[in-house]
Amino acid sequence: MTPTSSLPLEVCLTPDLLRLYDLKGKIVVVADIFRATSCMVAGLGSGVSEVIPVATVLEAFKWREKGYVAAGERNGIQVEGFDIGNSPLEHMTQRGRKIVMTTTNGTQAIQYSRHHAQQVVIGAFLNLAALTGYLKQQKMPILVLCAGWKGRFNMEDALFAGAVVEALTKEQNSLFHSDGDDALACLSLYGQAKHDLLEALRPASHYQRLVRTNENAEEDMRFCLETDRFDVVPVLKGDALVLA
Ligand code: MLT
Repeated sequence: MTPTSSLPLEVCLTPDLLRLYDLKGKIVVVADIFRATSCMVAGLGSGVSEVIPVATVLEAFKWREKGYVAAGERNGIQVEGFDIGNSPLEHMTQRGRKIVMTTTNGTQAIQYSRHHAQQVVIGAFLNLAALTGYLKQQKMPILVLCAGWKGRFNMEDALFAGAVVEALTKEQNSLFHSDGDDALACLSLYGQAKHDLLEALRPASHYQRLVRTNENAEEDMRFCLETDRFDVVPVLKGDALVLA
């Protein structure tokens, strides 16, 4: 089949590589599969009314004084004094509440993007079809930003980026253009792993870290790898993530 179009679609493998990308005029999809963006999708998809992603624990406590549920972690462990941690299953119990959230990598990637991109949206396997449907409608250059771990590459975010690339290019038989091969590499990795994502990710660094530090980590990660559980797309409007 001859490709019908060429889509501006890039993947940035870690926030430390963002200096190589121009975010101006782009829609940035932030992805932190284990677990920040999965929590955001699961929470908002279960009736949480908004999520404020902040960079610091101090900011989160300030929002908490205004009645927000404080959520998140540092180094994978719930912050002391917060109401909930960074498990999507916990976020799903907060129907009708407003959440303020800070995490080691995910909310930092959102904070950086919001000052440079045209639009910031939240991606996870949990909302893959809704997200890619939304991206197709926007008709804007797309950058998938993998949150990684403290500047390092994480496999789960790269596999998700590959799933986005596959979904956006497969149906329309379109090529994508990018100055590097990040998107191509993610597509290839996803092709190899998609038949059993959990098995492919068991040896991954953050999978292992969470198993060491969190009692219910395996249940969380199994859930984070469910595809299309929620038909929602969180978008950043001002300070808050809300449903598109
Ligand atoms: C992060 O933002 O670094 C993660 O979501 C960490 C975690 O899994 O708790």
